[in-house]
Amino acid sequence: MNAEIERRRTFAIIAHPDAGKTSLTEKLLLFGGQIQVAGAVKSNKIKKTATSDWMDIEKQRGISVTTSVMEFDYHDYKINILDTPGHQDFAEDTYRTLTAVDSVIIVVDGAKGVETQTRKLMEVCRMRNTPVIIFVNKMDREAKDPFDLLDELEEELSIHVCPLSWPIESGPRFRGVYNIYERKLNLFQPSKQVVTEKVEVDIHTEDLDNHIGASLAEKLRSEIELIDGVYPEFSLDNYKGGELAPVFFGSALNNFGVQELLDCFVEIAPSPRPVNAVERTVNPDETKFTGFVFKITANIDPNHRSCVAFCKVCSGKFTRNTPYLHVRHNKTMRFSSPTQFMAQRKTTVEEAWAGDIIGLPDNGTFKIGDTLTEGENLHFKGLPSFSPEMFKYIENADPMKTKQLSKGIDQLMDEGVAQLFVNQFNGRKIIGTVGQLQFEVIQYRLENEYNAKCRWEPISLYKACWIESDDAEELEAFKKRKYQYMAKDRDGRDVFLADSGYVLQMAQMDFKNIKFHFTSEF
Ligand code: G4P
Repeated sequence: MNAEIERRRTFAIIAHPDAGKTSLTEKLLLFGGQIQVAGAVKSNKIKKTATSDWMDIEKQRGISVTTSVMEFDYHDYKINILDTPGHQDFAEDTYRTLTAVDSVIIVVDGAKGVETQTRKLMEVCRMRNTPVIIFVNKMDREAKDPFDLLDELEEELSIHVCPLSWPIESGPRFRGVYNIYERKLNLFQPSKQVVTEKVEVDIHTEDLDNHIGASLAEKLRSEIELIDGVYPEFSLDNYKGGELAPVFFGSALNNFGVQELLDCFVEIAPSPRPVNAVERTVNPDETKFTGFVFKITANIDPNHRSCVAFCKVCSGKFTRNTPYLHVRHNKTMRFSSPTQFMAQRKTTVEEAWAGDIIGLPDNGTFKIGDTLTEGENLHFKGLPSFSPEMFKYIENADPMKTKQLSKGIDQLMDEGVAQLFVNQFNGRKIIGTVGQLQFEVIQYRLENEYNAKCRWEPISLYKACWIESDDAEELEAFKKRKYQYMAKDRDGRDVFLADSGYVLQMAQMDFKNIKFHFTSEF
């Protein structure tokens, strides 16, 4: 069992849209033998198999809404890549996916550097000390100075960095990368059909001059010397503790620098890590199966309205057709057709080990965060809801379909599409999202899957704050004073809907014994 768990690498690739996440994923799949295209090809065709365009709306808009899992064997390793939605309106979905991974690869565009979405996602990684590797992409285009980039990464992402490869120029002058880890030179060939050969070069000899010319050779020597002097030596412990991020340079589109990344990744990235539950910490090598649902997707097959709950196996071995306890329902369930994924292909699995992700057919029995065990009463932690950024009242636009609408809203919220708050003053339902697109998805899905129609009405809110206090009296006084702005979330917790930053600040000053939280888990 230990060997099975040890060889697993479960991770996500995260990036600001357009930085090259899809391209990198494709190249990794190529190395995993999952797509049979020789060399690197412009990605449009491969995209169909490599991404998970499951929802119609997603196809129309050409954005990846849902999270899927891609798995393959590479050498002795079993790789599980969790895909995350590219569009920032689905950031919440990405946050949840990050709770199911053991490490992360961040893709940064070499010309643009650190962008907003990267910064936000890194914050989530930091909350959990997730080990991070950075891939600076698009070096075949004019990029920022690599030293400036390292400074920027360090500063903007608040993490120490350590380059394991080093670019020789960029853009049209891009000559390749020097692999600091292996002390080998990898020369860039503009042909996209060939995976480049590495040459072993002692950079202190004339051999280097022969390959890249005297002036570039001199520059590389002095840069490597500088790197050796300035940056810390790579430390596996610091990387695993989430304090130090190794950095690679390359071009995903040209399949350049990707194999180095993958080879180093499988070697250093952690196998499944212990997971915290409310009751105790669960170790992956425990014999009994435990797992939690971090993601629910509808419409994998557009012909059937089926949902799939994605479950991360946290410990032991999951076996098909075995009774497991659904802790929230206190009910035993068997799964006769659990699936594993390769983009749109899915196969039934007989067993899965800690680190794996399995898809469980779901018709409304699962909610994000649900735990499965062999009988133990366990609740996994770490699936917080963040305060939404946008809020709207949801109203019924077809009085004949009230039931359908409320069922639809319930199920979509169970899937974690958005957050529902019920205003305690007027009983109206408020939907909170990260971006406008989620409202469109909800409306579309209510119509297409539940035959219900909704209408949005504006409400001006700044933030939703989960409130708590040891001082029951003050809490009551606060709720009374703010009764028009008090709501309950889906779990019945008290939420204060602040309509402006100023109002929130005043409330914090007036009610010093109350804590206002921007996430549901505190
Ligand atoms: P994303 O998933 O992070 O959003 O990024 P994606 O891989 O889709 O890449 C975004 C664009 O950047 C694509 O171009 C892609 O071809 C390009 N790209 C990715 N890696 C590299 C690279 O190493 N070098 C260069 N020069 N370009 C790169 P597009 O025109 O938007 O799409 P497409 O028509 O190429 O598919």
